[in-house]
Amino acid sequence: MHNREKDGTKIIALCGKGGVGKTSISAVIVKILTRNPKNRVLAIDADPAVGLATALGIDVTKTVDDIRNDLIRRVEAGKSEDKANVVARLDYEMFSALVEKENLAFLAIGRPEKEGCYCQVNHILKDIIASLADNFDYVVIDGEAGVEQVNRRVMENVSHLILVSDASVKGLNVVKTIQDISKTAIQYEKSGLILNRIREEEETERLSIPSTPSTLHFLGCIPEDGQIRRYDMEGRNLLELPDCMAIQATRNCVVRLGIPI
Ligand SMILES: Nc1ncnc2c1ncn2[C@@H]1O[C@H](COP(=O)(O)OP(=O)(O)OP(=O)(O)O)[C@@H](O)[C@H]1O
Ligand SMILES: [Mg+2]
Repeated sequence: MHNREKDGTKIIALCGKGGVGKTSISAVIVKILTRNPKNRVLAIDADPAVGLATALGIDVTKTVDDIRNDLIRRVEAGKSEDKANVVARLDYEMFSALVEKENLAFLAIGRPEKEGCYCQVNHILKDIIASLADNFDYVVIDGEAGVEQVNRRVMENVSHLILVSDASVKGLNVVKTIQDISKTAIQYEKSGLILNRIREEEETERLSIPSTPSTLHFLGCIPEDGQIRRYDMEGRNLLELPDCMAIQATRNCVVRLGIPI
């Protein structure tokens, strides 16, 4: 059942440069949120490489893009259907693409969309994803690396944007770019920065955090954690990660962003 006490679905997206830890942190956030059996959580893997599926121990058989391509093929083959039928079919297909495990549901987006004449279909899909989100207390979106996806349909309805960086200047520059674009491309309520894989306290003091302290909310650091790295190397499910400093630090960041757990 939808947990009404939580006052609307929190749609959380993680963005940042390639390899900074978006997928690992997304999986840890899903772990933290699903611990409470009352929370209904939807995890969306928006990276074509479907890394979140592996991190959550899920087999992907159908993606949103597979559904979309099927529909486009039908339209191109001249099979005309009225809009109500198309929406009903997409609705059904979307539910069949959901993988559900107790209070966690999972959906993979697949490859990036084609632009142009297919925008009608993209609008329908965007609406369906939005209405799907209504059935959950939290949606966690693991974004594709870089800035492109911020402009696409998947990110538009995000309420909480988490920018992830490692301690590199390159990582922080990508954060700055995403922050600039997201101001117009996303209607988010709150956003904040997580610094991941930090080895020593002093490391953060040497960092040049992008020069907009009033708008960039620093949420905290997640330490370098040997177990997270090992789980990834062995393709293990991060939901089974034992309690550690990295999980506690992630929890603190989520709370600091104002997300009730
Ligand atoms: N806090 C951490 N401690 C140790 N290793 C980490 C930590 N966070 C992430 N890693 C490791 O860093 C690598 C990249 O992490 P991850 O795949 O989560 O990044 P990503 O941003 O999703 O990458 P991509 O852009 O390729 O999708 C992985 O090997 C992961 O195990
Ligand atoms: Mg990833």
